[in-house]
Amino acid sequence: MAVIEVALAGREYDVRVEHGLLTDIANQCGPLLRKVRVPIVTDANVHRLWGEAVEASLAAAGKEARWMIHAPGESAKSWEGLSRTVEWLLAEEVERGDHIVALGGGVIGDLTGFAASMLKRGCGFVQVPTTLLAQVDSSVGGKTAINVVAGKNLVGAFHQPGLVLADTDALATLPPREMRCGYAEVIKYGILGDAAFFNWCEANGSDVLTHDAAAVEQAVTKSVQAKAHIVAEDERETSGARALLNLGHTFGHALEAETGYSDRLLHGEAVALGMVLAARYSVRCGNMPETDARRITAAIDTAGLPAELSALGLECSGEDLTRHMLHDKKMDAGTLPFILLRGIGQAYLDRDVELSDVAAFLSEQLQAH
Ligand code: NAD
Ligand code: GLY
Repeated sequence: MAVIEVALAGREYDVRVEHGLLTDIANQCGPLLRKVRVPIVTDANVHRLWGEAVEASLAAAGKEARWMIHAPGESAKSWEGLSRTVEWLLAEEVERGDHIVALGGGVIGDLTGFAASMLKRGCGFVQVPTTLLAQVDSSVGGKTAINVVAGKNLVGAFHQPGLVLADTDALATLPPREMRCGYAEVIKYGILGDAAFFNWCEANGSDVLTHDAAAVEQAVTKSVQAKAHIVAEDERETSGARALLNLGHTFGHALEAETGYSDRLLHGEAVALGMVLAARYSVRCGNMPETDARRITAAIDTAGLPAELSALGLECSGEDLTRHMLHDKKMDAGTLPFILLRGIGQAYLDRDVELSDVAAFLSEQLQAH
C-alpha cells in the first residue's frame, strides 16, 4: 500500500492507495468511526455497485451503514442536494467529532465535504473516492463546493478530510469514458511539473486505461504525491503553486460552457483538450518548443481523449470562447491568469495574456485541419 501524507500542520492526513480498501473500510477508518451508525453519502450507481461490500465490511466490525443516496450526476451538487444532505445528517444526530463517509466520485466528495464543513460549524469526513478523477484529484486538497445559477463550484469551502481511501479495485466498474476523464488529470501532473512522469504516462498510459493493477496503482500514487506536495505548499491557492493545477482548465472551462456542460464534452475531456490548447498557445507565444506540444497532443490523442478543437464541430468563434472565460472563477481584478508551459514539466502562471490574442488563436484552432 502507498501512504501519502498531506502535510498541513494541525490538519495533516493520509491518502492510502491500494486495492481492497473498500471491503476493509471499517478497519481502515478505525477510530474515526466512533459510533455504531456510520453515515455514508453516495450516489445510486456507486451504491448499486459497492454498497453491499461496504455494508458487509462495516457489519463485520459491528457497525451499521446509514445511507444518503443521491441521483448520479452534477445535479446533486446543488443547494437542494446540500440541504437534503445536511438535514439528513442532523436527523442522524451526527456530531462535530464524528466523520461522515463520502463514497463516490468528485460530485459526492465535493458535496459531502461542503456539508461537513458547515455541519455544527464543521465536522469530520473521510473521502472514499471511486472514480479515477476523484482518486487523483478531487478527494485530495480540501476544495469542496456546490454549483449555483451563476456557475460551477462558486459556493464552497476549504475543508480537509481526515483520511482518504483510494481503492483501485473500485475503478474496475468505472465506465471507460470516465476512466479516460480521470486519466486526463493523471497526465496533467506530468505535463505541469514532472517530465519523467509524463514519459512514464507515454509508455504506460494504455495499461492504466486497461486496468493493469500495477499501472493504475502507480498512476494514482504518483498523482496523489504530486497533488499532496502542491497542496501542502499552497493550501488556499494564494501563492500561485496550486493554481498550476488549473492547467488546461481555463480553455477547458470555455469549451464546457460552449457545449452546455453536457455529455457532449465531459470535464476531463475538456481539460485534456484544454491542455493541448495551452501547449499550442505556449508555442505560439514562443515559450515552448513545438516538439513538446506535439508530444502532449499525441499522448492525449492516444488515450482516446479529444485533442483537436476543430473536431468538436463547434459553431462559434474564438471570441465566443474567450467570452466564456470572463465568467471563470479564476478572474482576478479584471485579469484572467493563464497556466502556460515552457516545456513538458514546466508550467507557469502568466497574468499578462491578452484575451484578444487568445481569441485569434482559438479561431485558428477552430479552423485547423
Ligand atoms: P462523478 O462523481 O459524477 O462520477 C462520474 C460518474 O461515475 C457518475 O455517474 C458516478 O455515479 C459514476 N461512478 C462513480 N464511481 C463509480 C464506480 N466505481 N463504478 C461505476 N460508476 C461510478 O464525477 P467525477 O468525474 O468523479 O467528478 C467530477 C466532479 O468533481 C465535478 O463536480 C468537479 O467539479 C469536481 N472536482 C472537484 C475537484 C476538487 O478539487 N474538489 C477537482 C476536480 C473535480
Ligand atoms: N483541482 C484543482 C485543485 O484542487 O486545486
